[in-house]
Amino acid sequence: MLDIQKIRADFPILSEKVNGKPLVYFDNGATSQKPQIVIDAIATYYQEINANIHRGVHTLSQLATDAYEISRVKIQHHINAKFSHEVLFTSGTTHGINLVTNGFASILKPGDEVIVSSLEHHSNIVPWQMLCEKTGATLKVIPMDENGELIMNAFDALLSEKTKVVTVNHISNALGIINPIKYMIEKAHAVGAAVLIDGAQAVPHLKPDVQDLDCDFYAFSGHKMCGPTGTGILYGKEEWLNKLPPYQGGGEMIKEVTFEKTTYADLPHKFEAGTPNIAGGIVLGTAVDYLNHIGFHNIQKQEEKLLEHATKRLLEIEGLKIYGTGKNKASVVSFNIDGIHPYDIGSIIDKLGIAVRTGHHCAQPIMNFFCIPGTIRASFSFYNTIEEIDIMVEAVKKAKTMLS
Ligand code: ALA
Repeated sequence: MLDIQKIRADFPILSEKVNGKPLVYFDNGATSQKPQIVIDAIATYYQEINANIHRGVHTLSQLATDAYEISRVKIQHHINAKFSHEVLFTSGTTHGINLVTNGFASILKPGDEVIVSSLEHHSNIVPWQMLCEKTGATLKVIPMDENGELIMNAFDALLSEKTKVVTVNHISNALGIINPIKYMIEKAHAVGAAVLIDGAQAVPHLKPDVQDLDCDFYAFSGHKMCGPTGTGILYGKEEWLNKLPPYQGGGEMIKEVTFEKTTYADLPHKFEAGTPNIAGGIVLGTAVDYLNHIGFHNIQKQEEKLLEHATKRLLEIEGLKIYGTGKNKASVVSFNIDGIHPYDIGSIIDKLGIAVRTGHHCAQPIMNFFCIPGTIRASFSFYNTIEEIDIMVEAVKKAKTMLS
């Protein structure tokens, strides 16, 4: 069993007050809070080894380069990638997805099809739409049911030899539904399609095994898993990363430059033009160490408890409806109360120190499906407590009384 109070002491912000009340932070789906070890590691980097990487022969540059590359290997092991050069540092999930869609612009032809799911975040819809506009490929959408689960028969029926890419999130940010990605990857590969998994909402809750999943790409952000903002990873299978053209041109991604022709660096540098977020990349490794030290098994046990308690307690409130009632769920509860705008509830409970996200959660097609403007989303992390959920439930009840 986790000692939650001991864990909470690692996160200085959790003892802050907001609007005069103890902070109850339930917006972990947007970004997680950071433990002191991560905060300190950022300062240590700038105080002790700040230098540009892969450039100088001087000692600091080598120390910074080593720390950056050690972090890459740490993340390789964390997601079980076969090679460290399959692990690209990015600024976040959006960057990773755009890197891939940019690459497919030289591969897709008119008549080809890209399949996305109806549960996607805008960042895993819009880049594919832009790609389809550019190439003449067609975007197909896997429908969902009332529980927020993707309809697998419909997915199977969409697949054909025209399908070149399938892209789906591991866990829905708006509803918390965990998608059957292993099945989907297998099916997509059977028709020769490449698969990109948006793992942004999964990595705080579980340890993805990219070799076991056999996905071609897996994109995620560092800031949702206790790391700094502006960090992320794109995993890509070596053969795909060799096939795709570079995303950005610039320093560090070349072998040789002449005015006649430029040749590109080997992986991973081919995709890492310019000075990256060096401190961020190094400290993402610290965050991964921190989470592994707590243990994903323990994280999941705690989060399951939180999800179960929150679901039960919220449903005590008359007129409250939860969206995303499928069986496999991460610790996210998206809900509304009859006749009340989610924003109004969110604003009132904010005054009581409770941070939740309200609105469409960058997933407007999901909101359109349910014919709602948005939801109130409480997303829990392992450092949250049952007591905090009870505080939120009482606050929601109070808000409901004020607004009815
Ligand atoms: N994608 C993040 C969320 O779901 C920002 O809140």
